[in-house]
Amino acid sequence: MYKIPANTLFLGKQVVFVPECHSTNTLALQLSHKPSTTEGTVVITNHQTAGRGQRGNTWESAPGLNLTFSIVLRPAFLPVQDQFYLTIAASLALHDYLLAKTGKPIAIKWPNDILVHEKKICGILIENVVQGTRFMAAIAGIGLNVNQANFDTGKATSMKQVTGNDEDLETVLHELLEHLEARYLQLRRGDHSTLKDEYLSRLYALNERRQFVCQGHAFEGVIQGVDENGRLGVDTREGVLYYDVKEISLLR
Ligand code: BTN
Repeated sequence: MYKIPANTLFLGKQVVFVPECHSTNTLALQLSHKPSTTEGTVVITNHQTAGRGQRGNTWESAPGLNLTFSIVLRPAFLPVQDQFYLTIAASLALHDYLLAKTGKPIAIKWPNDILVHEKKICGILIENVVQGTRFMAAIAGIGLNVNQANFDTGKATSMKQVTGNDEDLETVLHELLEHLEARYLQLRRGDHSTLKDEYLSRLYALNERRQFVCQGHAFEGVIQGVDENGRLGVDTREGVLYYDVKEISLLR
């Protein structure tokens, strides 16, 4: 599987396929420490036994039905303090692809869940390897629900549920890598303001009053946007407060 190289400049030209592993992000992190691992190397598996999500959560995916892969990036051009732009670029690439493929309204739920009809179709976990003020690597891990028809939770969906079609996983991977590369190159060109504007225009619940929970305390507020560090700005009774991903979750 995954033997044909993608039609890209550098993403997915090297593919490490393992039938099963704990987590492609963990494997890609290990590989990224070898200088011989080139930028764009994709680590992909049919079955993760310990898939990792954000906030220390696990990522469950039916074996052989979905895409679970990680890309080794080497964004030496990006100041470490701008690392949220990797999240923006990856989220936009998934949004671009899923909009084109499904024709349905797609939203990015902060920081980088991809939703269709308010259900999660894709999760992204970006992990950075930083030395001093420089990136040695960034691992972009992507779990995209493709052909899975049933989910234990009513909060998840897949391309199959949305379109009714079964997809060839290798084709989906290749198409997606083209979108990811285009957005990554846009970031490399330094087009930060367009990336940020587009991210905000696709952000779920922007300018809407919502319920949040922060350290066990529920409160209401209106999402205002994100700051340069990727923190979510929420207009609360105490004014606009900025929250890190570990500090806040959106209840509804
Ligand atoms: C999230 O929404 O919490 C992020 C989920 C990220 C899942 C992907 S699957 C491939 C890669 N390997 C992992 O262990 N996690 C990411």
